[in-house]
Amino acid sequence: MRPYYQDDHVTLYHGDALEILPTLPIADAIITDPPYGETSLDWDRWPEGWPAVAALVAPQMWCFGSMRMFLDKRGDLDGWKLAQDVVWEKHNGSNSANDRFRRLHELALHFYRGTWEPLFKAPQFTNDAVQKSVRRSKNRTAHWGDIGQSAYASEDGGPRLMGSVIFARSCHGYAVNETQKPEAIVAPLMQYSVPEGGLVIDCFAGSGTTLAVAKKTGRRAIGIEKRETQCRAIVERLAQGDLLSAND
Ligand SMILES: C[S@@+](CC[C@H](N)C(=O)[O-])C[C@H]1O[C@@H](n2cnc3c(N)ncnc32)[C@H](O)[C@@H]1O
Repeated sequence: MRPYYQDDHVTLYHGDALEILPTLPIADAIITDPPYGETSLDWDRWPEGWPAVAALVAPQMWCFGSMRMFLDKRGDLDGWKLAQDVVWEKHNGSNSANDRFRRLHELALHFYRGTWEPLFKAPQFTNDAVQKSVRRSKNRTAHWGDIGQSAYASEDGGPRLMGSVIFARSCHGYAVNETQKPEAIVAPLMQYSVPEGGLVIDCFAGSGTTLAVAKKTGRRAIGIEKRETQCRAIVERLAQGDLLSAND
């Protein structure tokens, strides 16, 4: 199939993920944000069976969505093992019901297939350790076991493992996709799972956030998007090459 767009880093296909995924080369990881099947938007239909097709092209996958979506679709995720979950903390949220907590977060779940050890993974660090983080209880509870000290014990201001709750401002005001993800939440997931020069696939590319982050951080990306309006927006976005900010 002919790409809709191609440059040195990014290849974009306009079409259906279920048809195009099996034709792609093996990637280091999939990072994607599927249609959740939770709204009345005409594109918001979960393509039945897509996680099994995605498994043909990558051993690990970060998938955005809500707890409700993951529970509803857990049967479709059979064969993928859950490694960890990251919370995207937004600066504001959407209120679909006024009798519940205001929803200020989304989840990104990390799945893998096969064995964990050979997967590429580059733990991310932040330089914000404070004295508190080295305080250890003499009576540490048994379930801690022996985790090793070096990864989390650090001096003031030193590196420590990035936390699993990551704050990033939502894209209100500049989004071209209804559920656009900020680059600042996609970047650490990509840096964790895809080596520089490696290949990432986003089978539901939307406005092209995964593709833009790949290009800016020296990775290669293949995207698939069903709506041509979004494909056009991706091409424009990649041409602009706007800056990746920690809080965009
Ligand atoms: C949740 S949005 C992705 C938003 C994206 N993460 C961003 O930052 O812009 C999901 C996208 O999947 C696209 N889509 C829906 N069904 C598809 C399919 N079968 N194949 C490919 N793309 C599809 C929709 O058009 C929509 O743009």
